[in-house]
Amino acid sequence: MAREFTRVGVVGLGTMGAGIVEVFARNGVDVVAVEISPDALARGRATLTRSTDRAVARGKLAGADRDALHARVDFQVGLDALHAVDLVVEAVPERLDLKRRIFAELDRICRPDTILATNTSSLGVTDIAVATGRPQQVVGLHFFNPAPVMKLVEVVRTVVTAADVVDDVEALCARLGKVGVTIGDRAGFIANALLFGYLNQAVSLFEARHVTREDLDAAMTLGCGLPMGPLALLDLIGLDTAYEILNTMYRHGGRNRRHAPAPLIRQMVTAGLLGRKTGRGFYTYDKPGSAKVVPDGSTPTADDAPGSTAVTRVGVVGSGTTAADLAAVFAAAGHQVVAVGADGPAGTAGAVRTALDEGVTRDDPDPAGRDAALARISWADALEQLTDVDLVVEATAGDLDTTRTLFARLDEVCKPGVVLATTTSTLPVIELAMATRRPADVLGLHFCAPVRARTLVEVVTTVRTSTEATATARAVCAALGRTTLVCDDRAGFVVDALLFPYLNDAVRMLEAGYAGVDDIDHAMTLGCGYPTGPFALLDAIGLDVALAVQRALYRESREPGLAPAPLLHHLVTAGHLGRAAGRGFREHTGR
Ligand SMILES: NC(=O)c1ccc[n+]([C@@H]2O[C@H](COP(=O)([O-])OP(=O)(O)OC[C@H]3O[C@@H](n4cnc5c(N)ncnc54)[C@H](O)[C@@H]3O)[C@@H](O)[C@H]2O)c1
Repeated sequence: MAREFTRVGVVGLGTMGAGIVEVFARNGVDVVAVEISPDALARGRATLTRSTDRAVARGKLAGADRDALHARVDFQVGLDALHAVDLVVEAVPERLDLKRRIFAELDRICRPDTILATNTSSLGVTDIAVATGRPQQVVGLHFFNPAPVMKLVEVVRTVVTAADVVDDVEALCARLGKVGVTIGDRAGFIANALLFGYLNQAVSLFEARHVTREDLDAAMTLGCGLPMGPLALLDLIGLDTAYEILNTMYRHGGRNRRHAPAPLIRQMVTAGLLGRKTGRGFYTYDKPGSAKVVPDGSTPTADDAPGSTAVTRVGVVGSGTTAADLAAVFAAAGHQVVAVGADGPAGTAGAVRTALDEGVTRDDPDPAGRDAALARISWADALEQLTDVDLVVEATAGDLDTTRTLFARLDEVCKPGVVLATTTSTLPVIELAMATRRPADVLGLHFCAPVRARTLVEVVTTVRTSTEATATARAVCAALGRTTLVCDDRAGFVVDALLFPYLNDAVRMLEAGYAGVDDIDHAMTLGCGYPTGPFALLDAIGLDVALAVQRALYRESREPGLAPAPLLHHLVTAGHLGRAAGRGFREHTGR
């Protein structure tokens, strides 16, 4: 029989604590909610009221249930109010000295059988537990932000936590409607160890002015389907909390440079730009605590794409899935398309027809529309047939030498002023530009895969790309109903540069034996709201593709943290390439 928890305490009613109070009270548990001062207590109470009022307004909570929920919460200043609770969840700022002091106090105040839990994101639960005389009754109970919404709770057991305490806490998670994943005590646990390396890297890209804040966030929401962009998420988490988490993970997680806080985070914390809680972080909010972004000096103004050239005829070069999808997308949007495929007109036409039939264009795939789109495509087997196009999109997935040769040929064949675009995700665009005598007209158009599902296109400009060519590329993508972001020519551009190192980190975590494939996937889907876990995504993308991208990222940066995980390499060598091969990190039957 699992232990009954009828009355619990929550210490610290900030971003997380107020949400944790709501989780307990919503599920019929009485809560003693404790803060350090009357002012902080009033802020915590206001946060709970705002959240529950919002739930009522959205029809997710009945008015009477909200009132009952509030009646279960006893707001108090000072830890002494916790003398009679069954469990305490601590959610004070991420500082070891503070948490240790609070746990020592709780040990003195609480009943001997009370379980003490910390919501720490990165500090050692063991370091906190040994500040008490009951380390066997101390666990990590790591909720995710926003606590009432996110399903995951990481239950952290130390080497001294008693087994029945873990069982009782797991049963409590289930009662709260949460999925508890029990893991050992390691800096960042599962989700934060994977999330914060990515968030930190995103700040570095922004700090280096590689991409604007809006484009960076759009890259990850539109390009990867994440619920929030990294900078908006950091504003939600709080820059001070994020800084402390990164700092601890860096110091206690093997000094991995991916966790060394980007200098900008420190500067923002010092300047009081902590995110939503202070009304300003990467974005500006209408008031402290609000989620409503208001325009500020960095908000982009309407872009009228100056100097773009009209594009009616488009050449698409390549015979793979991307080339077929692109020919279909351009034709469906009304462009005349010349499709040049290595396997000749018949092979290319078949693939494009399939793409149109699958509704790749996101337009209504009615037969008349499909036939009209097909009629706009002419099929060719030689680049010489691209003499009168206005734009060429190369999607051959060749190596550098082959693609350079191809661009040199395009330069000879195409009329002056034509934009020559590559869809490469691994080759440096400047190499292709310099294979021509018109580097100003060469850029990357990286359509995020799968082309049918993702609406984002990264427009990759080199040091030689002209503003006219960039404007033309953006206008063409807008005509396809796609969102563009402009970024520099560096390995992985924005989306892949952020996505693949995170996937590689997940492989390293698996390799280290800290957690299994399912637990890691759950941590990211249920804890962070990702549409897919890292291993499900790797199996879908293909492990060979992931390895190639990761190698390119490592080659360019020489960052040890970006070196491909040996396990990824071994699986590729063994032919476990993912879903298409029937086996990757998981077995796939019925392909
Ligand atoms: N912010 C997130 O997204 C997030 C997510 C998961 C876990 N966490 C973890 O949760 C914990 C709290 O983080 P947060 O973001 O909610 O911080 P926060 O700064 O928003 O809130 C901390 C609260 O603790 C109160 N406090 C400070 N000293 C206290 C004391 N002696 N007694 C009672 N209350 C006291 C403060 O007044 C404040 O209201 C940290 O360990 C953090 O790592 C944060």
